[in-house]
Amino acid sequence: MKNINRIRPLKSLVTTALSLAVASTVLVPLALITAAEGKDEKAPKTETSAEQRIEADKKPKAAPRKLSGAELYSMHCNRCHPERYPTERTAAQWKTILLHMRVRANLPAEQAREILKYLQDNSGR
Ligand code: HEC
Repeated sequence: MKNINRIRPLKSLVTTALSLAVASTVLVPLALITAAEGKDEKAPKTETSAEQRIEADKKPKAAPRKLSGAELYSMHCNRCHPERYPTERTAAQWKTILLHMRVRANLPAEQAREILKYLQDNSGR
């Protein structure tokens, strides 16, 4: 009996602590959500942001632009050594060089073709 009496105040303390914990985990986020919603109502920016979104849609997207052979050349072919001017080799030489350097630069076929075309078009013939 003595032991139980000693535990009882402890039990009520634990219950109080638990209910406080539950109350704060439920009520604090609720209060935060209502505060956030209140803020949204005050700010009359929903219309402008919709307009801005339409404006942003009109702007050309950066991703789909296809890189030219010259750009691909300057991106990929000067990593290991300086770029050579296209005029330094003949079209036939560039073809052979690309066979080797395409593998070195780990280029997909289409990019290798673009680079070769650029180099041959501007080659020393
Ligand atoms: C991973 C490194 C690497 C990349 C990327 C690379 N090269 Fe090379 N390249 C080399 C090495 C190493 C040599 C010299 C040895 C040889 O010829 O195999 C060389 C040699 C050359 C040469 C002949 C040597 C000279 O100075 O005239 C040419 C031309 C050349 N590369 C063009 C290219 C082109 C075009 C590309 C892009 C498609 C390219 N390289 C990408 C490593 C690379």
